[in-house]
Amino acid sequence: MTQDELKVMVAKAALDYIPSGSVLGVGSGSTVMKFIEQIGINKVPVSAAVSSSNKTTEALKAIGVNVVDPNETQPYEVYIDGADEVDPNFNMIKGGGACLTREKILTSMAKKFICIVDKSKLVETLGKFPLPVEIIPMAREQVARTLRALGGEPVLRKDCITDNGCEILDVHGLNITDPLALEQKINQIPGVVTVGLFASKGADIVLYATEEGVKVLKRG
Ligand code: 5RP
Repeated sequence: MTQDELKVMVAKAALDYIPSGSVLGVGSGSTVMKFIEQIGINKVPVSAAVSSSNKTTEALKAIGVNVVDPNETQPYEVYIDGADEVDPNFNMIKGGGACLTREKILTSMAKKFICIVDKSKLVETLGKFPLPVEIIPMAREQVARTLRALGGEPVLRKDCITDNGCEILDVHGLNITDPLALEQKINQIPGVVTVGLFASKGADIVLYATEEGVKVLKRG
Protein backbone atom coordinates (compact mmCIF):
# COMPACT_ATOMS: atom_id res chain seq x y z
CA MET A 1 0.00 0.00 0.00
CA THR A 2 1.40 3.44 -0.89
CA GLN A 3 1.64 6.35 1.53
CA ASP A 4 -0.99 8.12 -0.58
CA GLU A 5 -3.42 5.22 -0.16
CA LEU A 6 -2.82 5.25 3.59
CA LYS A 7 -3.60 8.99 3.63
CA VAL A 8 -6.88 8.39 1.79
CA MET A 9 -7.75 5.64 4.27
CA VAL A 10 -7.24 7.85 7.31
CA ALA A 11 -8.99 10.77 5.59
CA LYS A 12 -12.09 8.60 5.12
CA ALA A 13 -11.98 7.48 8.77
CA ALA A 14 -11.90 11.11 9.90
CA LEU A 15 -15.30 11.76 8.32
CA ASP A 16 -16.88 10.02 11.33
CA TYR A 17 -15.50 12.73 13.61
CA ILE A 18 -17.14 15.70 11.87
CA PRO A 19 -19.61 17.13 14.37
CA SER A 20 -23.08 17.85 13.05
CA GLY A 21 -24.24 21.43 13.18
CA SER A 22 -20.97 22.81 14.55
CA VAL A 23 -18.12 24.71 12.95
CA LEU A 24 -15.27 22.39 11.90
CA GLY A 25 -11.61 23.39 12.23
CA VAL A 26 -9.55 22.26 9.25
CA GLY A 27 -5.76 22.00 9.12
CA SER A 28 -3.38 21.91 6.18
CA GLY A 29 -1.20 19.51 4.24
CA SER A 30 -1.63 16.61 1.85
CA THR A 31 -3.54 14.38 4.30
CA VAL A 32 -5.98 17.19 5.02
CA MET A 33 -6.41 17.77 1.27
CA LYS A 34 -7.52 14.13 0.99
CA PHE A 35 -9.89 14.68 3.92
CA ILE A 36 -11.44 17.68 2.16
CA GLU A 37 -11.74 15.60 -1.03
CA GLN A 38 -13.59 12.92 0.94
CA ILE A 39 -15.99 15.49 2.41
CA GLY A 40 -16.81 16.50 -1.16
CA ILE A 41 -17.08 12.97 -2.59
CA ASN A 42 -19.30 11.77 0.25
CA LYS A 43 -21.28 15.02 0.41
CA VAL A 44 -20.77 15.18 4.19
CA PRO A 45 -22.67 18.19 5.56
CA VAL A 46 -20.35 20.73 7.17
CA SER A 47 -22.23 23.72 8.51
CA ALA A 48 -19.17 25.99 8.39
CA ALA A 49 -15.40 25.73 8.77
CA VAL A 50 -12.45 27.71 10.04
CA SER A 51 -9.35 27.23 7.95
CA SER A 52 -5.63 27.15 8.76
CA SER A 53 -4.28 28.25 5.36
CA ASN A 54 -5.17 29.95 2.12
CA LYS A 55 -4.81 26.62 0.31
CA THR A 56 -7.24 24.90 2.68
CA THR A 57 -9.69 27.77 2.33
CA GLU A 58 -9.60 27.43 -1.47
CA ALA A 59 -10.14 23.66 -1.30
CA LEU A 60 -13.04 24.01 1.15
CA LYS A 61 -14.71 26.70 -0.92
CA ALA A 62 -14.29 24.57 -4.05
CA ILE A 63 -16.51 21.87 -2.50
CA GLY A 64 -19.05 24.42 -1.29
CA VAL A 65 -18.08 24.67 2.40
CA ASN A 66 -18.72 28.03 4.01
CA VAL A 67 -15.40 29.27 5.47
CA VAL A 68 -15.78 31.70 8.36
CA ASP A 69 -13.39 34.09 10.11
CA PRO A 70 -12.16 32.70 13.47
CA ASN A 71 -12.82 36.17 14.94
CA GLU A 72 -16.48 35.65 14.25
CA THR A 73 -16.60 32.16 15.75
CA GLN A 74 -16.79 30.91 19.30
CA PRO A 75 -14.49 28.11 20.51
CA TYR A 76 -15.69 25.05 18.63
CA GLU A 77 -15.83 21.25 18.94
CA VAL A 78 -13.35 19.57 16.61
CA TYR A 79 -10.15 20.48 14.76
CA ILE A 80 -8.82 17.93 12.26
CA ASP A 81 -5.25 18.14 11.00
CA GLY A 82 -2.19 16.11 10.03
CA ALA A 83 1.26 16.15 11.61
CA ASP A 84 4.88 15.59 10.69
CA GLU A 85 5.67 13.58 13.82
CA VAL A 86 3.60 12.32 16.76
CA ASP A 87 5.12 10.88 19.95
CA PRO A 88 3.51 8.39 22.40
CA ASN A 89 2.34 11.30 24.61
CA PHE A 90 0.39 12.92 21.74
CA ASN A 91 2.95 15.72 21.33
CA MET A 92 3.49 16.67 17.70
CA ILE A 93 5.81 18.44 15.30
CA LYS A 94 3.81 20.39 12.73
CA GLY A 95 4.59 23.03 10.14
CA GLY A 96 6.02 21.00 7.27
CA GLY A 97 3.51 22.88 5.12
CA ALA A 98 4.40 26.25 6.71
CA CYS A 99 0.93 26.74 8.23
CA LEU A 100 1.89 26.23 11.88
CA THR A 101 0.79 29.60 13.25
CA ARG A 102 -2.77 29.45 11.98
CA GLU A 103 -2.89 25.77 12.90
CA LYS A 104 -1.92 26.62 16.48
CA ILE A 105 -4.52 29.37 16.67
CA LEU A 106 -7.26 27.01 15.52
CA THR A 107 -5.98 24.29 17.87
CA SER A 108 -6.26 26.71 20.80
CA MET A 109 -9.93 27.33 19.93
CA ALA A 110 -10.90 23.66 19.60
CA LYS A 111 -12.23 21.37 22.31
CA LYS A 112 -10.71 18.34 20.53
CA PHE A 113 -7.75 17.98 18.20
CA ILE A 114 -8.03 14.93 15.97
CA CYS A 115 -4.73 14.14 14.32
CA ILE A 116 -4.79 12.17 11.06
CA VAL A 117 -1.57 10.52 9.94
CA ASP A 118 -0.16 7.42 8.35
CA LYS A 119 1.92 5.13 10.53
CA SER A 120 5.23 6.62 9.31
CA LYS A 121 4.54 9.72 11.42
CA LEU A 122 4.57 7.88 14.76
CA VAL A 123 7.93 8.23 16.55
CA GLU A 124 9.33 7.47 20.00
CA THR A 125 11.05 10.87 20.33
CA LEU A 126 10.32 14.02 18.33
CA GLY A 127 13.08 15.75 16.40
CA LYS A 128 14.14 13.65 13.44
CA PHE A 129 11.81 15.82 11.34
CA PRO A 130 13.38 19.32 11.40
CA LEU A 131 11.40 21.53 13.77
CA PRO A 132 9.74 24.44 11.90
CA VAL A 133 9.89 27.85 13.57
CA GLU A 134 8.01 30.76 11.97
CA ILE A 135 9.92 34.01 12.44
CA ILE A 136 9.76 37.73 11.73
CA PRO A 137 12.34 38.24 8.91
CA MET A 138 14.33 41.00 10.70
CA ALA A 139 14.97 38.63 13.63
CA ARG A 140 16.28 35.75 11.47
CA GLU A 141 19.96 35.83 12.47
CA GLN A 142 19.37 36.49 16.15
CA VAL A 143 16.74 33.74 16.41
CA ALA A 144 19.10 31.39 14.55
CA ARG A 145 21.92 32.16 17.04
CA THR A 146 19.62 31.41 19.96
CA LEU A 147 18.41 28.17 18.39
CA ARG A 148 22.04 27.10 17.87
CA ALA A 149 22.70 27.76 21.56
CA LEU A 150 19.82 25.36 22.30
CA GLY A 151 21.64 22.65 20.35
CA GLY A 152 19.85 22.84 16.99
CA GLU A 153 21.02 23.68 13.49
CA PRO A 154 18.53 26.12 11.92
CA VAL A 155 18.21 26.28 8.14
CA LEU A 156 16.17 28.98 6.40
CA ARG A 157 13.41 27.33 4.32
CA LYS A 158 14.01 28.32 0.68
CA ASP A 159 11.35 30.14 -1.35
CA CYS A 160 8.95 30.12 1.56
CA ILE A 161 6.94 33.08 2.78
CA THR A 162 4.08 32.05 5.03
CA ASP A 163 0.46 33.20 4.72
CA ASN A 164 1.40 35.69 7.45
CA GLY A 165 4.31 37.18 5.46
CA CYS A 166 6.96 35.54 7.65
CA GLU A 167 9.85 33.10 7.15
CA ILE A 168 10.52 29.60 8.45
CA LEU A 169 13.67 28.26 10.08
CA ASP A 170 13.79 24.44 10.06
CA VAL A 171 15.79 23.30 13.05
CA HIS A 172 17.77 20.10 12.49
CA GLY A 173 19.54 17.87 14.98
CA LEU A 174 17.20 18.20 17.97
CA ASN A 175 16.38 15.24 20.17
CA ILE A 176 13.25 16.54 21.88
CA THR A 177 12.96 14.74 25.20
CA ASP A 178 10.90 17.50 26.88
CA PRO A 179 8.61 18.93 24.18
CA LEU A 180 6.65 21.20 26.52
CA ALA A 181 9.78 22.86 27.97
CA LEU A 182 11.27 23.35 24.51
CA GLU A 183 8.01 24.76 23.13
CA GLN A 184 7.93 27.32 25.95
CA LYS A 185 11.62 28.17 25.57
CA ILE A 186 11.45 28.77 21.81
CA ASN A 187 8.19 30.74 22.13
CA GLN A 188 10.07 33.18 24.38
CA ILE A 189 12.68 34.13 21.78
CA PRO A 190 12.00 37.64 20.44
CA GLY A 191 11.09 37.42 16.77
CA VAL A 192 9.59 33.93 16.98
CA VAL A 193 5.98 33.95 15.82
CA THR A 194 5.29 30.27 16.48
CA VAL A 195 7.23 27.08 17.07
CA GLY A 196 5.88 23.96 15.40
CA LEU A 197 5.91 21.97 18.63
CA PHE A 198 2.36 21.16 19.71
CA ALA A 199 2.86 20.02 23.31
CA SER A 200 1.02 22.47 25.56
CA LYS A 201 -1.98 21.49 23.47
CA GLY A 202 -1.29 18.24 21.67
CA ALA A 203 -3.66 15.82 19.97
CA ASP A 204 -6.61 14.32 21.83
CA ILE A 205 -7.16 11.50 19.38
CA VAL A 206 -4.70 10.15 16.83
CA LEU A 207 -6.05 8.21 13.85
CA TYR A 208 -3.22 6.44 12.04
CA ALA A 209 -3.42 4.38 8.91
CA THR A 210 -1.69 1.02 8.60
CA GLU A 211 -1.94 -1.78 6.03
CA GLU A 212 -4.29 -3.50 8.49
CA GLY A 213 -6.65 -0.53 8.72
CA VAL A 214 -6.97 2.69 10.69
CA LYS A 215 -6.01 2.49 14.37
CA VAL A 216 -7.23 4.91 17.03
CA LEU A 217 -5.19 6.24 19.96
CA LYS A 218 -7.06 8.17 22.63
CA ARG A 219 -5.51 10.29 25.34
CA GLY A 220 -5.69 9.05 28.94
C1 5RP B 1 1.24 21.85 7.72
C2 5RP B 1 1.28 20.72 8.66
C3 5RP B 1 0.85 19.38 8.16
O1 5RP B 1 -0.16 18.90 8.96
C4 5RP B 1 2.03 18.45 8.21
O2 5RP B 1 3.11 19.03 7.49
C5 5RP B 1 1.69 17.08 7.62
O3 5RP B 1 1.46 17.21 6.25
P1 5RP B 1 1.13 15.98 5.31
O4 5RP B 1 -0.26 15.56 5.63
O5 5RP B 1 1.29 16.56 3.93
O6 5RP B 1 2.14 14.90 5.58
O7 5RP B 1 1.63 20.84 9.81
O8 5RP B 1 1.79 23.02 8.28
